[in-house]
Amino acid sequence: MKNKETDLFNNPEMEQKILDLQELKDLQKKLLQYDEEYYNNDAPTISDSEYDKLKRRAIELEEKYFDFPKLVSKKVGAKVKSGFAKVKHTTPMISLDNVFDREELLDFITKIKRYLKVDTFYEMVAEPKIDGLSFSALYVDGKLVQGATRGDGETGEDITKNLLQIKGFPESIKSPYKSIEIRGEVYIDKKDFEKLNKQVEEQGKKLFANPRNAAAGSLRQLNPEITKQRPLKYLVYTWGKVENQDWKTQEGFYKKAEKLGFNVQKHILCDNFEKLNSAYDFLFSNRAGMDYDIDGVVFKVNNLDVQSELGFTARAPRWAVAYKFPPELAITRVKNIRVQVGRTGVLTPVAEFEPVNVGGALVSNATLHNFDEIKRKDIRVGDYVSIARSGDVIPKVIEVFKDRRDKYSHEFEAPHNCPVCGSDVVSVDDQVGLYCVNGLSCPAQATEELKHFVSRDAFDIDGLGEKQIELFYNKGWIKNVADIFELEKHFDELRTMEGFGDKSVENLRDAINEKRTIDLYRLVYGLGIVGVGIVSAKILAKTFKTFEKIREVTVNELITIDGIGEVMAGDIVAFFKDEHNEKVINKLLGFLTIKEVIEEQIDTSSPFYGKTVVITGTLSKSRDYFKNMLEKLGAKIGSSVSSKTDYVLYGEDAGSKLIKAKELGVKIISENELDVLIKS
Ligand code: IVH
Repeated sequence: MKNKETDLFNNPEMEQKILDLQELKDLQKKLLQYDEEYYNNDAPTISDSEYDKLKRRAIELEEKYFDFPKLVSKKVGAKVKSGFAKVKHTTPMISLDNVFDREELLDFITKIKRYLKVDTFYEMVAEPKIDGLSFSALYVDGKLVQGATRGDGETGEDITKNLLQIKGFPESIKSPYKSIEIRGEVYIDKKDFEKLNKQVEEQGKKLFANPRNAAAGSLRQLNPEITKQRPLKYLVYTWGKVENQDWKTQEGFYKKAEKLGFNVQKHILCDNFEKLNSAYDFLFSNRAGMDYDIDGVVFKVNNLDVQSELGFTARAPRWAVAYKFPPELAITRVKNIRVQVGRTGVLTPVAEFEPVNVGGALVSNATLHNFDEIKRKDIRVGDYVSIARSGDVIPKVIEVFKDRRDKYSHEFEAPHNCPVCGSDVVSVDDQVGLYCVNGLSCPAQATEELKHFVSRDAFDIDGLGEKQIELFYNKGWIKNVADIFELEKHFDELRTMEGFGDKSVENLRDAINEKRTIDLYRLVYGLGIVGVGIVSAKILAKTFKTFEKIREVTVNELITIDGIGEVMAGDIVAFFKDEHNEKVINKLLGFLTIKEVIEEQIDTSSPFYGKTVVITGTLSKSRDYFKNMLEKLGAKIGSSVSSKTDYVLYGEDAGSKLIKAKELGVKIISENELDVLIKS
């Protein structure tokens, strides 16, 4: 007979249980520590999404092994910080359950129907889920008598005086209710956050990691005078106990609260499931343009009778849910630091990660910009780092977790030679970068220049992408941009190569031939002159009209042009003086016909063609500069914002026009977004 112990370990179910409970214990311990860091120290060490993931797993296990202590499922927030008086909430400040995709959202709706035994879709409100700190404010006879943080959901911290330091927070209200408890979120705008962190930096103090931590750290101050100096704002989205409550819907509450003088969260009414999804999509795609950080969308059943029928689980209401955005910040490990050589010879270190999802995209590397940046941030190979997608596009390392370093982490040394051609590298006066001295003889620089030449804004040659350029360069068929127009010498061989056939080779021939006639600005841009982007190339083409003139232009002539500075002027002149460039250009011109520049040629393919744009605030260059540029792209420049305005381009300290645009739902764009749109 087998003994009992062997039996136990031969039992896969039991084995799984032991493993699961070990994992659960571990998770409970970790989550306790992360809660402490987040709620009490306002200094989290893991991303929200990683936390959400761990918490979900813990809840799943707590539900599976229901006789094990439930430390995570029932927990909301953290205990009261010492120094604050405790406030017992009249009704608990409960948290929301999360969903992460459409399927889970559908599940949530299905559960509502199942619970109520109906097949009706009850109208819901959708609202931004602000990433701040929740508060409760109790008014008795119209006077604010108590303000509290959420704390652990049952007991919070007394922050009455602190709430009153928030600009516009009502001390008294004209209230028809003997007592009313108003609840919402305290937060800091993105812009104010930047300013606050600048001040903090000047004072030599530790920077706040994000607006949420800054808001929490500012509100939970024992000295309200400090709170007063912080740019806190608030929005109201729910309520606690109310005497003689007379509204019947969530929407009804917003109307009342607004009348009482509160700033109220905006909401969208949704009367079917598809509308929930489009509200989510709308808020998700507009969140970058919002003043404050939001991390998801909250959906609430509008009708309060239906809400009370649904009631609560131990953890959250059944009538509301938070549909969280995909993580915008994620933690991963640096596997390697690779050095890339760019078109102009600049060496750029790039961190390679274990792939991780950031804001909906899988990220496996991020530029570290330059070698000083590696030193400044002290990033080492093997380090755990948090990464974000800045402006939602380019991944960026935000933080290095030095305390998670192990024996595999090691420092990275800047190269003394070009990693591609082995030539010397030099640093150029007053620039941070290192450069390969080998110019276009360096295969990396040469292929990058070729890729740039065929790119969309330049010659835009179909069928000649990055992969083909590398292949043809390595075969020695294309060494410089002029060789592209002699590529057909190799077509017989190309036809026999894997991945190519008669058809694709003929298409390539047509695509190249089509570009033998080219716009002047495309040629100028395609040459890859340092600093000359598409906008400058268009300015050069429009100003000088012919390529011959541009080739011979002097620095003095160039610097009189709006949009061209001294450095760029020097680079342009130096480019055309270079012997190698001169040779290649002469050969290239033999293959090309340059289209005549037609006065005021308007770019009909631009996203601004026929659109009305209003410019407001202080931009990095003169208003006229942006006006001219936009007009060239076919835009009309308006002086005031109305529903007919298509875009508002805003800069620093934009005022009423920006506010009006937001009220009217006009698209607002920053200079960076303008750049992206033009290049798109
Ligand atoms: S409603 C019972 N609405 O998210 C309903 N909460 O994860 C209570 N939050 O504790 C909350 N925006 O701190 C609600 N529009 C919104 C919200 C919101 C942000 C926060 C709040 C809440 C947490 C739940």
